[in-house]
Amino acid sequence: MEKVLVTGGAGYIGSHVMATLGRRGLRCVCVDNYANSSPEAIRRVEALAPGTVEAHEADIRDTDALRRILATGGVTSVIHLAGLKAVGESVAEPERYHDNNVRGTESLLAALADSPVRRFVFSSSATVYGHPQGVPISESAPTAPQSPYGENKLEIEGLLARLAKDDPSWRVINLRYFNPVGAHESGTMGEDPSGIPNNLMPFVCQTAAGRRPQLSVFGTDYPTPDGTAVRDYIHVMDLAEGHVAALGALAAARDGTVMTVNLGTGRGISVLELVQAFERVNGIAIPRVLTARRPGDVAVCYADPSLARQALGWTARRTLEDMCRDAWHWQSLNPEGYRKAAA
Ligand SMILES: NC(=O)c1ccc[n+]([C@@H]2O[C@H](COP(=O)([O-])OP(=O)(O)OC[C@H]3O[C@@H](n4cnc5c(N)ncnc54)[C@H](O)[C@@H]3O)[C@@H](O)[C@H]2O)c1
Repeated sequence: MEKVLVTGGAGYIGSHVMATLGRRGLRCVCVDNYANSSPEAIRRVEALAPGTVEAHEADIRDTDALRRILATGGVTSVIHLAGLKAVGESVAEPERYHDNNVRGTESLLAALADSPVRRFVFSSSATVYGHPQGVPISESAPTAPQSPYGENKLEIEGLLARLAKDDPSWRVINLRYFNPVGAHESGTMGEDPSGIPNNLMPFVCQTAAGRRPQLSVFGTDYPTPDGTAVRDYIHVMDLAEGHVAALGALAAARDGTVMTVNLGTGRGISVLELVQAFERVNGIAIPRVLTARRPGDVAVCYADPSLARQALGWTARRTLEDMCRDAWHWQSLNPEGYRKAAA
């Protein structure tokens, strides 16, 4: 059976990717140091796709550990999700981010060089576009990351491009995710942020659950229909299916292929639109205060998803209502995330 090395597989996106691959009959070899996740997530994946995950607690910067894991054989491709992802934290601790994200990727590539694996899918981000000059954003739009985190993503894309140029036996797809939200429809897996959530949907969910007194809406004077910021929210299961499509595209691609593909819906949703959809779908009021813009926030950001359709044969299928319903289903069944279950 085909095996996929999934770095960061215990994380929010990785767990949904592994469950999706497992249900399609693929096996996953997960490498995670649990810096921002819990082994409980692996147990949840196993419950959905029994016998499909082989989990290793390891840091991707430990090249020898990766070599030992790869030496067990059978891995044909890699999905590289492991990384630190808090934009604000990356501004405060740029060296730690570079070390973990960029040096971690170099270590992974060094381990892979000694193996037969030459198919690589990388978790990049729409944050590489910075303040977009226009929307929808296509992959040819200029890149101008505004944080060390975004710079890490672009640097890694550059590493992968050089790798495939120097050794054309590689095939690479960089997936630039827009704003993943929602949860597995079973309600057993979802986003489990530690501390105060940075992102809108987990904040909305925690407010709905009474863990936060109210939601702050940052900025009501953007040049958008209702004045609040607009993003391209994409259901995490659509995103996970995008990875299956990327693996399929890599299998069919020519050696030396390097593709960069947006994963988004192509539809911009404002903060208020999302909050109102959440209230409507789940029948829960979200107390909110309207406050000033947050420095650095972009007004409008959404994808041109046409390349994903052409090159991967993939399009997002799930609606904003699905995202809101599934996020709340997960939150209400797991009010403390994975922590309580793991204790
Ligand atoms: N969630 C988003 O909004 C978003 C958007 C764009 C891109 N991404 C990227 O997608 C990837 C996955 O994001 P996520 O939301 O699932 O984040 P996450 O924090 O839930 O998952 C990342 C996983 O990587 C692991 N990890 C971190 N450093 C590691 C290391 N040195 N060695 C081994 N494991 C390590 C963490 O423990 C965690 O399980 C990240 O690379 C992130 O930058 C996420």
